[in-house]
Amino acid sequence: RARNLTFKLVLLGDGRVGKTSLVLRYVNNVFSEKQETTVQASYLTKRLVIGGVPITLSIWDTAGQERFHALGPIYYRDADAALLVYDITDTDTFLRVRKWVKELQQMASKDIVMVIAANKSDLIRSKNYDIQGAESYATTIGAKLFLTSAKSGTGINDVFLDIAARLLQK
Ligand code: GTP
Repeated sequence: RARNLTFKLVLLGDGRVGKTSLVLRYVNNVFSEKQETTVQASYLTKRLVIGGVPITLSIWDTAGQERFHALGPIYYRDADAALLVYDITDTDTFLRVRKWVKELQQMASKDIVMVIAANKSDLIRSKNYDIQGAESYATTIGAKLFLTSAKSGTGINDVFLDIAARLLQK
């Protein structure tokens, strides 16, 4: 294997679902209640070691606002993985995930790794909140679903580790 494996990861999802917050929690371990809307996209890298193998994730955090939708292909083109994010308290944002998945299935690399994050899980009080529908949908597209909270930190490492592990298996 090459010494420094670099993979391109793109985050996609509706506006305000917490894409930037997830990345900033993961890379810098910070969270802001006043995270500003992303314009176009922003770029960060993260190095990690998985199973003794050092890898670099080059992460494209895209703008979720509908007016930026047409820019998607610029960022998911050549992407090795896509992290699809929705807000667990807002079912409309899950529909946007399904829309992105359809687009990726048609336009992106055939073997792109897809993972879904149901974010803002800190806002869910009841433990038996129903995510079964979302989980079985994830299974049908060969993705895994993670409950995350950029606010509390829950699930964040798990998501990125799963992505990295699956990238190494490719
Ligand atoms: P766009 O740039 O518009 O696409 O938004 P985004 O998906 O990057 O969302 P962003 O990270 O900017 O977060 C939007 C708002 O949700 C901010 O006020 C965050 O503080 C808040 N937020 C993000 N993640 C969480 C979370 O896990 N829990 C809670 N309670 N709030 C969150």
